[in-house]
Amino acid sequence: MTVLVTGGAGYIGSHTVLALLDAGEPVVVVDNLSTGSPDALPRHVPLLVQDIGDEAMMAGIIRSYGVDVIIHLAGSVVVQDSVRDPLAYYRNNTVAAHGLLSAAVRCKVKHFVFSSTAAVYGNPAQLPVPETAATDPQSPYGASKLIVERMLQDVAAAHSMRYVILRYFNVAGADPDGRAGLSAANATHLIKIAVELATGQRSQMDIFGTDYPTPDGTCIRDFVHVSDLAQVHRIAVSHLARGGRSAILNCGYGRGYSVLEVLACVRKLSRKDFTIRHAERRPGDIVAMVADVRRIRSELGWVPQHDDLNAMIADALAWENKLVALRNLRKDSAASA
Ligand code: UFG
Repeated sequence: MTVLVTGGAGYIGSHTVLALLDAGEPVVVVDNLSTGSPDALPRHVPLLVQDIGDEAMMAGIIRSYGVDVIIHLAGSVVVQDSVRDPLAYYRNNTVAAHGLLSAAVRCKVKHFVFSSTAAVYGNPAQLPVPETAATDPQSPYGASKLIVERMLQDVAAAHSMRYVILRYFNVAGADPDGRAGLSAANATHLIKIAVELATGQRSQMDIFGTDYPTPDGTCIRDFVHVSDLAQVHRIAVSHLARGGRSAILNCGYGRGYSVLEVLACVRKLSRKDFTIRHAERRPGDIVAMVADVRRIRSELGWVPQHDDLNAMIADALAWENKLVALRNLRKDSAASA
């Protein structure tokens, strides 16, 4: 069974490729390298540098590699950027998915796994939030993903395709064996920024809002380890191959940590007592977001292996230290050349 992974050279994509390879699945990656890097992938994995919205090109790739299932992760993911430039998000996430789905239909691909987001819920009325909750995205990013969810469901009904839609909560950490991690520059994610600070790559960071109606006044998130999330994709592929039904599934652990709790954990593990400025609330931030995870456990039988904030942050720190060491090595060899 050959799996096409779009966005496979990115953060979640590269971990997903490793999970598939570890399970012996043949993989082909399409990535336009706008944020991903070929270095994120083992050398033997076919990498086609290509926009996924080009229907004819994608149909050619699906046919020539004999693709049976598509895991679609390629897209733009920064909420604030989507507010500034909504059309870029509708183009990269929604219009591009239309091209990819058209190619999938043309080539009769029957199984499709789509990377969606908890941002489709907006401010949830109940916590933990179940998949049946009303969707009300507060950003073009969330809306651009929700439209694809709907498009995929309609396409699946019309063309006897089956799908798994994964709504990611806050993804963090790095491969515990140090094979992959979050390398992209200009990260906006809390844990990435905090470990950059702890490893001396930043001089400061802000906490956006300390007056929220939560126990310590900061926002609450459900952090999921990227390697667990990668396994979810692999299990979703097996679920579809076994004839499993289509599903929309939350991907989190069902437990929330506050921004302050996360930062305390980074301080403890890094043994660095960095200072953090208290700043204004970041526009559009949701107060608290925690997944109801009963459905993913029952539909996929998923048993997380890394449900531990300490381990997640330790893996993120180890990866960050590796990036710093690599950068220093490059500088040294450039200086001595
Ligand atoms: N935060 C800070 N300082 C920082 C960065 C973040 O205080 O420097 C805070 C944010 O204000 C927020 C929390 O940390 O309260 C988490 O922020 P992130 O940017 O790490 O993540 P978000 O919850 O905003 O967004 C994430 C994903 C989105 C996804 C969303 C779904 O990045 O792609 O979860 O809930 F849509």
